[in-house]
Amino acid sequence: MHGIETRAILEKLAALPEDWHLAGMASERVLKAIADECVRLSPLVRTAETGSGKTTLLFSSLSPRHTVFALDTGNRSISAAMESSLLDPSVVELVEGPTQKTLPSYSFDGEYDVVLIDGPHGYPFPDLEYFYFYPRVRKGGLLLVDDIHIPSIGRMYRILKACDMWRLIRTVDNMAFFERTDAPLLDPYADGWWLQGYNRRLYERGLKRKGLLGALTPKWLRRMFPASVKRFFSRFA
Ligand SMILES: C[S@@+](CC[C@H](N)C(=O)[O-])C[C@H]1O[C@@H](n2cnc3c(N)ncnc32)[C@H](O)[C@@H]1O
Repeated sequence: MHGIETRAILEKLAALPEDWHLAGMASERVLKAIADECVRLSPLVRTAETGSGKTTLLFSSLSPRHTVFALDTGNRSISAAMESSLLDPSVVELVEGPTQKTLPSYSFDGEYDVVLIDGPHGYPFPDLEYFYFYPRVRKGGLLLVDDIHIPSIGRMYRILKACDMWRLIRTVDNMAFFERTDAPLLDPYADGWWLQGYNRRLYERGLKRKGLLGALTPKWLRRMFPASVKRFFSRFA
């Protein structure tokens, strides 16, 4: 899908009525930016989104395999997309239901070129979706987070902005476009809060104040160390 075809689908999306579905739709500028990024990354192998609507139609025209995790809460966002003549149903897999349930039980296979998080917006649901997707965005691939003007999603945006695994390439309206860097994956089944950019300053301040020994061991254990050990570790503060 290139040039003229992409422009044509964007024009058709722009012409859809305002009440085409009632869950809030991506703006023309956002759709254009998604299309530009997908064309830049082409050929795509696999994409996914949470939530459904105009973006579903767009991805179905840009991606050879697009998975939609969505729940229609009476807003027609799934039915409008699935019944649209602009949808290419041969490339779309719909996983219908609350992502809080469908993502943990979904059998993921392989990595995604682009993932859009735009399903349920209440805290902690976008964070939960992030948990299931962040290990599966390929290096150089994109994670799109919509509605970063919502304070709880804004916090997630700031966490990702400070994270070594992501590079913010742009924000368009309320959508953030993050590119997966070459940084090692944060182990989803371990800890590592002290490695994360958003927390690093606090951790380093603590390290300065308490020294390496203090930062790595609980207070009750520190008390049991002889002065010589404490002196040794104080060099690393
Ligand atoms: C803001 S809309 C997505 C708009 C779409 N990206 C577009 O451009 O038209 C949010 C979507 O998330 C869906 N949704 C709401 N709660 C959900 C849940 N718990 N699980 C999955 N999808 C949910 C809504 O029905 C809707 O499809």
